[in-house]
Amino acid sequence: VKSIAVLTSGGDSQGMNAAVRAVVRSALYNGLEVYGVQRGYQGLLNDDLRQMDLRSVGDIIQRGGTILQTARCKEFMTAEGQEKGAEVLRGRGIDGLVVIGGDGSYQGANKLSKLGIKTMVLPGTIDNDIPFTDYTIGFDTAVGIVVDAINKIRDTMSSHERSSVVEVMGRHCGDIALYAGLASGAETILVPEVPFNLTEVSQRMEANFAKGKRHSIVVVAEGAGNGHDVSSEITRGCGLEPRVTVLGHIQRGGTPTAVDRILASRLGDYAVHQLMAGDSGKACGIVRGEFLSTDIDTVVNTKKPFNLDLYELALRLSQ
Ligand code: F6P
Repeated sequence: VKSIAVLTSGGDSQGMNAAVRAVVRSALYNGLEVYGVQRGYQGLLNDDLRQMDLRSVGDIIQRGGTILQTARCKEFMTAEGQEKGAEVLRGRGIDGLVVIGGDGSYQGANKLSKLGIKTMVLPGTIDNDIPFTDYTIGFDTAVGIVVDAINKIRDTMSSHERSSVVEVMGRHCGDIALYAGLASGAETILVPEVPFNLTEVSQRMEANFAKGKRHSIVVVAEGAGNGHDVSSEITRGCGLEPRVTVLGHIQRGGTPTAVDRILASRLGDYAVHQLMAGDSGKACGIVRGEFLSTDIDTVVNTKKPFNLDLYELALRLSQ
């Protein structure tokens, strides 16, 4: 490949900018031309591309969001849209593409690969729902934000001897709830991967207060239920009236942690090297510290395994 493009797609995540920077600088370092596509696949269809130089990605490693912006694009889900996207790239002499995004973005990249564009995808989502990588870019930052919020909530819950339900993001994946729940010492973690019974949850909360606990934090992943509904069920079960906090998009903003910046930098550079080696249709990840490239087909057809050991540990430690 001589000329590549980079785009960010789907929900943004902290560290996407660090990944864009790594792709651009690694490509330039290796003598490639590199283009930034504005607004994801929508921008590709609109031919909204600009050539990037070293300065185009200056001062962004520490910024949340994505300078390339992002969009969820319906047209690109159609065969005509995909052919049009490939044509835009061919028309500009671009033969490689790096897509940074979640699983919806992976499917689009896979289609372009089948149309002859060499593509690599990087896991850019706070949800940590992508298999064949231990962590996704943005997850560490999002978990830190949730832990910080729960620390604050816990202060005021303890003063009032109250309980709280905190609803976190994650789409169909419970990892944000699991990791943040463990790191913040939450008594209850509700995730879509593990069945739960809210009557039992409320009985346990009541018993914990009776044992002298001064607060009770329930973290609920959005994929497992709605914070307000969970709170109402607990009130029905034991009379407690948990306050509800829905953290929402706060989890997706702010400066990325060093862990996310390093993950993004390593993966961005790796993706460029894989393209230069002639590979295509691959998802880049890091598993136990080692790079891994996996067929996008395999990645999108595999469910990320849930870490039950970590879940049970969180429960044991929060008694
Ligand atoms: O995939 C990232 C994510 O933040 C999910 O956790 C959440 O369900 C979804 O995106 C929210 O999407 P939107 O920003 O379109 O409301």
